[in-house]
Parts: sequence; structure tokens; C-alpha cells
Amino acid sequence: MNVLVVGSGAREHTIAWKLRPSPRLTDLFVAPGNAGTGQIAANLDIKAADVEGIAAAAKKHRIDLVVVGPEDPLSRGLVDRLTADGIAAFGPTKAAARIESSKAFAKELMGRCGMPTAASATFDNRTDARNYVQANPGPIVVKADGLAAGKGVFVCDTTEEALAAVDAMMGAEAAFGESGRTVVIEERLSGREVSAHAFSDGTTVAPMPFACDYKRARDGDEGPNTGGMGSYSPPSWLDEALELYINEQVTEAAIAAMRDEGSPYAGVLFPGLMLTDAGARVLEFNCRLGDPEAQVLLPRLQSDLLDICWAAANGTLSECDIRWSTEAAVGVVVASGGYPDDYQTGYEIAGLGTLDEDVHVFHAGTVAGDDGAVLTSGGRVLTVVAMAPTLTAARAKAYSNVQRIHFTNVYYRRDIAAPAQDARVD
Ligand code: AMP
Ligand code: GLY
Repeated sequence: MNVLVVGSGAREHTIAWKLRPSPRLTDLFVAPGNAGTGQIAANLDIKAADVEGIAAAAKKHRIDLVVVGPEDPLSRGLVDRLTADGIAAFGPTKAAARIESSKAFAKELMGRCGMPTAASATFDNRTDARNYVQANPGPIVVKADGLAAGKGVFVCDTTEEALAAVDAMMGAEAAFGESGRTVVIEERLSGREVSAHAFSDGTTVAPMPFACDYKRARDGDEGPNTGGMGSYSPPSWLDEALELYINEQVTEAAIAAMRDEGSPYAGVLFPGLMLTDAGARVLEFNCRLGDPEAQVLLPRLQSDLLDICWAAANGTLSECDIRWSTEAAVGVVVASGGYPDDYQTGYEIAGLGTLDEDVHVFHAGTVAGDDGAVLTSGGRVLTVVAMAPTLTAARAKAYSNVQRIHFTNVYYRRDIAAPAQDARVD
């Protein structure tokens, strides 16, 4: 089988790495990929969001299955386009991807299913949005309805901040373009966050283990939000009853609701939750694997990922036997200093050849230089992932390897999966 993975991050490198050993695989392509995917697959110089370009490449290279990593091409209808061409594609259709590409749609679905979530209201009129903020003083969250590359959520301490967020999105500036023309304003919750993931073919739901992500740039959850600075799996503090509740009442319920409304959901569904003192609350739904959650989840998968993706795309997931390692995995994102704001690229990465053999390096912002050199080319450069029987051992192994990687202005958080600084780890 010829397979094409769409995307260029560490998530897509992890997907490609996990597909590689499948006995069913013939040729593996990644579009556009990075230096890491270039070592295990053929990179194609086509942007992930270029639906027509990807569809043409899939035909040209006789692709049997396309595995889509990021939300953007999904929300642009890549899976619909490929399916119309008779090519199997792993991921939700454009209509099903609305669960992530419209927060208003997701909130409406949560309401319909009676899912526990923050109280909210949706506005497409700035005056009404401002009035709502003023009528609900105190901490509040303002969210752009559409996709905004993870930047469209404002967790506000004061009414003034919330009004400024409304104005930035709905005023002349239109900070997120069409994505911010509608806003969801919701109650601000507090608690530990957890990422739930499941494979689905639209009917069968196969939950993955749980994972945790670190969104803030600096240690102690300080600094601006990023795409994610590290992750670990499993969170031992989550008890089985709560896991079952989330899998049944949130993930399975959402997939049943999507089927009922005529938009069956296939691919990976990733609900993000907050565990408040009053119980679990759904913050959002994502229509794909998390990044950096994928980097700690897929190494724990003991089954053939190609089998699973093929089955999910073809409605036969119930026939798959999906097994997970009981080992813990810790992923530390190595970034360019300054990320998520200004940073420089083009630096040579040293030390990659000195890492332990059983430690994984999943590339994100990297390009191949001359003579086998690997250069930085983005904010998040790579994720170093270690597995071990305990989280503590996995963490120690991950950091002992991270310290061997050098480039100008290298930056990483020191507290990923660290119990002392972070209440999210026991
Ligand atoms: P979302 O894209 O909706 O998950 O929001 C991104 C991040 O914003 C979440 O992972 C949380 O850290 C934070 N967030 C979102 N909604 C809320 C909320 N209602 N209360 C507190 N924090 C939130
Ligand atoms: N790590 C969170 C996300 O991928 O949205």
C-alpha cells in the first residue's frame, strides 16, 4: 500500500515513523514533511492546506491511503476531495471537522448531548458580545469561533481584557479574519487539563490512553500560550471511573451525535477537558491527534497504525485489535529561543547522533542542510520522547537526552512531567 501523510510537524513525523514498519506498506510519502520525515519517507513539496495539490499528488503517486495530520486541511475538505477521487483518507470530512473548526457548533453539540461544559453564549454582533461581557463581570474566556492556529482563545482576568479581546476580533482590526467574526464567550474554569483521544470509523470508537500537554511557554505554566511544549502519558492521577465516564459520555456521545445529525465522524477525535472541583468539563473538541500528544501516544501503540487508519477510513474499525503499552512516555519539545514570539532559524543542530538508541526524536521545524546536517527552520524544532516503566524514569531519560542536543538559542521547559512544580503529576 502506498501511503501519504499530510503535515510537517512532529506529530506527522511520529505518524510516519509509526506507519513505517507496517508489513502492508510499500511506499511512504509526506507532504510537505521536514528533515526527520525525509529520513524515513519521500517528502513532497506541497503545503498541507493545498487541497488540490495534495489530491493531484495522491493520484500521481498512486496513493492508497492518505493520513491527514493537521486540522486546517481537514476543515478545507481534503478528505471529501480524496474520497470523491476514490482514495481512502484517514480523518473527518469537512462537515465532521466542524467539531473543531466552529466552536459555536461544538458548544451546540455539547448542549444537545447534555455534556458538562462551561456556560457560554455565542455572538456574531459586537455590541451584544460587549453587553454580555459587562453583564458577567470577572474572569471570562473569549474564543474566536473558527480556526486561529491555537491563538484565538483569550483567558481573561478582567472585564477590560475581555472587552479588548472582543474588540480585537469583532472590530475593524478583525484580528482573526472570518474566524473571529463570531465569538464564543464562556465561564472561566480552573483545574487540571487532560487530553482524551479515540480512533473512530464513524460507528466504532476505540479510545486511546489519556495524555497531558503543557501549553505555556515557560516553566511553572508561565508565559504565553504555544502549540505545546511537552507532554506525557498516562496521567496516573486520572482514575478509571473518570476515564470511563469521559470515553462514554463525551467521546462516544459526540461520535453518536455526529452520526445522528448526518455527519458521521471518522478519524481521531480529541476532546480537551478540564477537571474542575465540580467535575470534568469539556473545553473543546479537536478533529485530529494533538501535537505534542501524538508524540507520547503513538510510541505506546503496539498495534499496526496502518491497519487502524485503513480500518477507520473504511468502516471496519471493529475488526481491529488495538493494544497499548503500559509503559509511560514523556515528550520534551526543543524550541528556538523566543518562540512563540520572535525567533531565529537556520542554526545547525548538534548532538542528534549521541542520543540513546531507544529514545525517539520527532522533528518539527527542521530542514536538511549540506552533508547530512540538520538545521532549525521553525519555532518548535523537535520533540525528544523517552519511554520507561515509570513516568519518573521516562522523564529522567528524556531530559538526559535533551541535554545532549545543542543549537544557538536552544530552549526547552525543564518541568515537563515534573511532580514538584506541577500539580498535574502525582
Ligand atoms: P480551547 O482551544 O478551547 O481548548 O482553548 C485553549 C486553551 O484555553 C485550553 O487548553 C485551556 O487552557 C484554555 N481554556 C479554554 N477554555 C477555557 C475555560 N472555559 N476556562 C479556562 N481556560 C480555558
Ligand atoms: N496539544 C493541543 C493540540 O494539539 O491542540
